[in-house]
Amino acid sequence: MSTFWAGWVIFLICFNLGITFFLFLWAPRAKVPTLPDGTTGHVWANGALREGMARLPGWWIAISFAGFIAGFTYLALYPGFGNFKGALDWTSRGQLAADTAANDAMWNAATVGFAERPVEQLASNSKARAMGEVLYRDNCAACHGRAGQGSQALGAPSLSDDDWLYGGSGEAIVTSIQGGRHGVMPAWREPLGDDGVVDVANYVLSLSGGLHDAARAAAGKEKFATLCAACHGPDGKGNQGVGAPNLTDGIWLYGGDLDSVEHSIASGRSGTMPAWSERLSPTQIHLVAAYVYSLSRDGAPSGGQ
Ligand code: HEC
Ligand code: HEC
Repeated sequence: MSTFWAGWVIFLICFNLGITFFLFLWAPRAKVPTLPDGTTGHVWANGALREGMARLPGWWIAISFAGFIAGFTYLALYPGFGNFKGALDWTSRGQLAADTAANDAMWNAATVGFAERPVEQLASNSKARAMGEVLYRDNCAACHGRAGQGSQALGAPSLSDDDWLYGGSGEAIVTSIQGGRHGVMPAWREPLGDDGVVDVANYVLSLSGGLHDAARAAAGKEKFATLCAACHGPDGKGNQGVGAPNLTDGIWLYGGDLDSVEHSIASGRSGTMPAWSERLSPTQIHLVAAYVYSLSRDGAPSGGQ
């Protein structure tokens, strides 16, 4: 705040409090002429209403005076009086730093040893899982769904099945979260032509036993082997090295109806998972990874708890 504005603030405070203080001293003593009947003589509504005379009650003055003193005490202790910092030297930044330090200390005490334990092991610790779940809800649920069910509209994969684009080991999950992921599926409308896209889409659907036109699928098979197998594998089972999904399991990132599959092939896709290494600490990433790891194992048919 410049000296001018600081002076202006000081002036306004002194002026306002000065007027208030003057009223305290003056009002109880002020002489108001009254008639013998105790009214001031002002009349309204043809004499039906007459203005009475009553002093402010003592308790009201006492409370207001206490507020007045409290205001001055506050200005003496805390910033507010122009550029004067206040006797306590309090700042909102300082308060935030102190609260953050206290919070960090609590967090560190509660998570001692978690960062060193493998994700697979941490996933069976209910306290760690609960902390991971809170982090998940705050940071991940918007895209991956509250229960980890994923969103085809956003191309965010389900994290609660055991089908992984990049791998479901603790380490692979941590890598996905830490650095983010970016799946690149090129657009094939140019080389394939509209008819070619429909052929290959039918072939892709045949891989998972979906509804398809057998003649078209047969026409698409060859093209798949030349153009697609490099990433999705010769049998369409996918490749975790490049995040190319398995096309044979009936689990779809963007939808498994003919339209969606044609769209994936004709226009390409490029799902982006943001990187969290800047926003979450290594321990937090470890915890949320443990929770994600547990999602696909809890309640799985194999009974893993
Ligand atoms: C902005 C949306 C978005 C947010 C927020 C998000 N993700 Fe993702 N995530 C994605 C997308 C999209 C993919 C798929 C990337 C691809 O297609 O290559 C993905 C992929 C993943 C994968 C890899 C899955 C696999 O099958 O290999 C994991 C694990 C994951 N996310 C976990 C998380 C966690 C944990 C958080 C929270 C810390 C999170 N994501 C927040 C969009 C998001
Ligand atoms: C360069 C590697 C690469 C090639 C070549 C490639 N794909 Fe893909 N494909 C991907 C990746 C990576 C994804 C996932 C995209 C994402 O994460 O957003 C994908 C996604 C898809 C999907 C969406 C799957 C779903 O679950 O919704 C279909 C369908 C598909 N590809 C079919 C094909 C076909 C057909 C071809 C050949 C014409 C092909 N791909 C060639 C890498 C490739």
